[in-house]
Amino acid sequence: MARMRVNGQALEFALDPATPLLWALRDAANLTGTKQGCGGTGECGACTVIVDGGAVLSCKVAIGSLEGADVTTIEGLAGHPLTLALVAEDAIGCGFCLPGFTCGAAALLQQSARPAAEQVDALPTRCACGLQPRLRRAVERAAGAMAANAQPPQQPPARSQIPEIVTPPR
Ligand code: FES
Ligand code: FES
Repeated sequence: MARMRVNGQALEFALDPATPLLWALRDAANLTGTKQGCGGTGECGACTVIVDGGAVLSCKVAIGSLEGADVTTIEGLAGHPLTLALVAEDAIGCGFCLPGFTCGAAALLQQSARPAAEQVDALPTRCACGLQPRLRRAVERAAGAMAANAQPPQQPPARSQIPEIVTPPR
């Protein structure tokens, strides 16, 4: 048994706690966007998802260790600036590595506003079909879009605008 939030939805997996997150997502939650590519040896990165803001190989983590975690899969990134940028840069290749790449790069964008090309290349999922330059450009494009949409820091309200705390009369 393990409870966590997946793409914003509270889920309870009635499974052996040793079950890899990859199979809980695919087989129990029917979130089949997360792929398996290397038999769980940790080499391909196709199974990458985001756990509590960081990229995680879902084949290597047991659901029992994720009690209360916040998980985002490729299904939760629809409409994300990176997803849109991948389309705009025509960086959609085999579709097998792409979910893992997208999750890894989205986590990178959460940690770094302007990731360097080397950071993109260091993600666990590498494209073997020649799209790496487009993937780099897509991350750059997404970073630009996210920076443009960032809200300026909020000014604290003026003293007179701070609501009073009113306690009922006894
Ligand atoms: S399935 Fe290959 S790293 Fe997880
Ligand atoms: S897009 Fe998957 S290997 Fe290139």
